[in-house]
Amino acid sequence: MSDFPQQLIDRFGRRVDYVRLSVTDRCDFRCVYCMAEDMTFVPKPRVLSLEELQQIGQAFTELGVSKIRLTGGEPLIRNGVMSLVESLGRLPGLRDLAITTNGSQLQRLAPALRAAGVNRLNISLDSLNSRRFRQLTRTGNLDQVLAGIDAAVNTGFQRIRLNAVVLRGRNDDEVPALVNFARDRGIDLAFIEEMPLGQISEHNRAETFMPSEAIRELIEVEHPLEALGDPGASDGPSRYYRMADSNSRIGFISPHSHNFCHLCNRVRVTAEGRLLLCLGNEHSVDLRAILRQPNATLDDLKHAIVGAMDVKPERHYFDHSDEPSILRFMNTTGG
Ligand code: GTP
Ligand code: 5AD
Ligand code: SF4
Repeated sequence: MSDFPQQLIDRFGRRVDYVRLSVTDRCDFRCVYCMAEDMTFVPKPRVLSLEELQQIGQAFTELGVSKIRLTGGEPLIRNGVMSLVESLGRLPGLRDLAITTNGSQLQRLAPALRAAGVNRLNISLDSLNSRRFRQLTRTGNLDQVLAGIDAAVNTGFQRIRLNAVVLRGRNDDEVPALVNFARDRGIDLAFIEEMPLGQISEHNRAETFMPSEAIRELIEVEHPLEALGDPGASDGPSRYYRMADSNSRIGFISPHSHNFCHLCNRVRVTAEGRLLLCLGNEHSVDLRAILRQPNATLDDLKHAIVGAMDVKPERHYFDHSDEPSILRFMNTTGG
């Protein structure tokens, strides 16, 4: 035990205290910026079992990681996901257990998630118009998601944040309405620049690119924004602003227009158990291979994780063109 470090530090001196675990690459939605219409998902035997996910969570927390976020695909459609959430919630050393979800299952699950120790929820919401919501998600039902958001608000999480990916000409006219929706509920809202992950054909990413700065200008017509400072390690890639007359914070995630790699505190594990050291690079370590070796121990896993810190890249390079910088889709990447 004692030869393991208390903290994970990479070659550039960045402390990694946050892991994002993708519990499935499947999803009940097919958002146009995230997936192709016709997707092939990972065959089940190649997906980590709930027990393997729990072991990975345990190994990371024993190495000083204090935040775990479950992502997908849609994490809440995985069978038995609540038992995983409950076991992660009991890990000593974990201070922050969060989930990123599309909201479709929240009406059913919000109270159980809170009870299991989830303190933060990020819920995707790109439009308040049912027809358009359906176009953007291809299969999603707006009323179901709105009911899920209400259930989460009524359950009382420490923080709830809506995520909106803004595409010029598609939903940029809804920016003010989304801000008011968040203000009415006292919850946060982050606007995300679309990232070039996976080959999509539904729109041309160069044409729909909407920089955070343009969104900020739209909001300031109605609500002046005051910067809350540069993102610290705890705030991740989102730069937050406040409004004088509301508790809601407005965040901007700008992988194109504002590089935040020097503050990166996170790694992610794909549903197949690939430990990805950066969202925008392919450097990775196969944790599933280690877990599935005969007689594998938790220490083997911890050795692999410590070693992986040496391959975490310094930064990502995204451009605005329509060509994907990275061929894997967001749902295989785990947000
Ligand atoms: P926090 O846990 O509060 O930091 O949340 P988050 O904003 O990281 O989480 P969420 O899952 O809601 O992700 C919102 C957007 O940020 C998604 O589009 C993610 O892909 C993106 N994102 C998260 N981490 C990174 C990162 O390290 N690099 C880049 N480029 N984008 C990221
Ligand atoms: N670029 C930016 N954000 C994306 N998301 C999914 N695909 C992309 C992409 N290509 C967002 C979702 C969700 C979060 C986890 O990632 O909207 O809120
Ligand atoms: Fe599913 Fe989220 Fe991707 Fe939409 S963005 S298809 S909800 S994983």
